[in-house]
Amino acid sequence: MIDPRLERALGTVVDPEIRRPLVELDMIPAADLDDGTARIRLELTVAACPAADRIQADVRQAAASVPGVERVEIEVDVMSPATRQALVERLRGSRPQQFGPGTLTRIIAVASGKGGVGKSTVTANLAVALAARGLAVGVIDADVHGYSIPALLGTADRPTRVGDMMMPPEAHGVRLVSIGMFVEGNRSVSWRGPMLHRTLAQFLADVWWGDLDVLLIDMPPGTGDVAISLGQLLPHADVLVVTTPQRAAAEVAERAGEVARQTGQRVLGVVENMAGLAQPDGSVLELFGAGGGEEAARRLGVPLLARIPLSVALREGGDAGAPVVAAAPGDPAAAAIIALAESLRGTRSIAGRGLPVSPA
Ligand SMILES: Nc1ncnc2c1ncn2[C@@H]1O[C@H](COP(=O)(O)OP(=O)(O)OP(=O)(O)O)[C@@H](O)[C@H]1O
Ligand SMILES: [Mg+2]
Repeated sequence: MIDPRLERALGTVVDPEIRRPLVELDMIPAADLDDGTARIRLELTVAACPAADRIQADVRQAAASVPGVERVEIEVDVMSPATRQALVERLRGSRPQQFGPGTLTRIIAVASGKGGVGKSTVTANLAVALAARGLAVGVIDADVHGYSIPALLGTADRPTRVGDMMMPPEAHGVRLVSIGMFVEGNRSVSWRGPMLHRTLAQFLADVWWGDLDVLLIDMPPGTGDVAISLGQLLPHADVLVVTTPQRAAAEVAERAGEVARQTGQRVLGVVENMAGLAQPDGSVLELFGAGGGEEAARRLGVPLLARIPLSVALREGGDAGAPVVAAAPGDPAAAAIIALAESLRGTRSIAGRGLPVSPA
């Protein structure tokens, strides 16, 4: 029972990981107010809840804001397994087939045939730019051999387990999961296809993403097991193909787009990365040549959506875990990614195509 005088204030306290009010999550089973003392029972979902201190501080502050409250006493405990299971069931129920065919979440896989063209850099920065524009954004680092998203977003946090669900950590306003969060240290992962498939499926099903506007998937290079698994798991995903300006790269990029199409995915367009770098004297240094983006777009019959120049700030931001779109939005590469985010923001998920449209 929660004393009605405390109800409103406590109702505003949100679990930082599950992003729902504690009261709604049954995390505050009891709270009373007697003689100026608010006594609150707080039940955490797991004993080692990393957000425990913050939750307690938020509860204390909320209760203290209620007129007539002079002292706040919080008794902290851990949910019984039965209560936790009920909570997990409820969370599950609230996300029927998280990313099934009817989802309103726009799913965008960032792919390329070739390694090192900047998929992960583009994914991380695009995610941060979309989140900064008010969208709820998630990222799956599907590059199991070269996972890099956590470092690019500057976080070493791991998901929190609640029952058999995982709450993804958040960095720069973006929720993320990566294989890197499940291996010790900097070990490399060498898994065969079925294991990869299961892990991807788990990232889609057992991570509590909440209501996402956009889910970005950072793909490993090439057209191997992960691309095929993803095509099977998410046939309604859109694909952004990243290439460098090199002509040879365009050919490889085209193949990545073709593989996506074979599984029914739609190729949204091409992003040319590592394009010419403007020099102080006004000339342009074309380290990787020119025309690869246009070439790939033409071969795939899709638009060239962005041309991201070579950028020291972009590379440094990646190394430091401080994405350039947030750290130095005026940088030309940042500006190109922000413009890409703007252009993607307005378009609707093709999964949403099924929605009934009535003529005005
Ligand atoms: N526009 C750019 N200007 C300068 N450096 C860049 C640019 N884009 C990416 N880089 C740098 O190039 C390297 C490769 O980028 P990134 O890891 O994003 O590529 P990738 O395609 O994800 O690679 P992989 O295939 O290994 O997953 C990184 O060191 C990154 O900082
Ligand atoms: Mg990568």
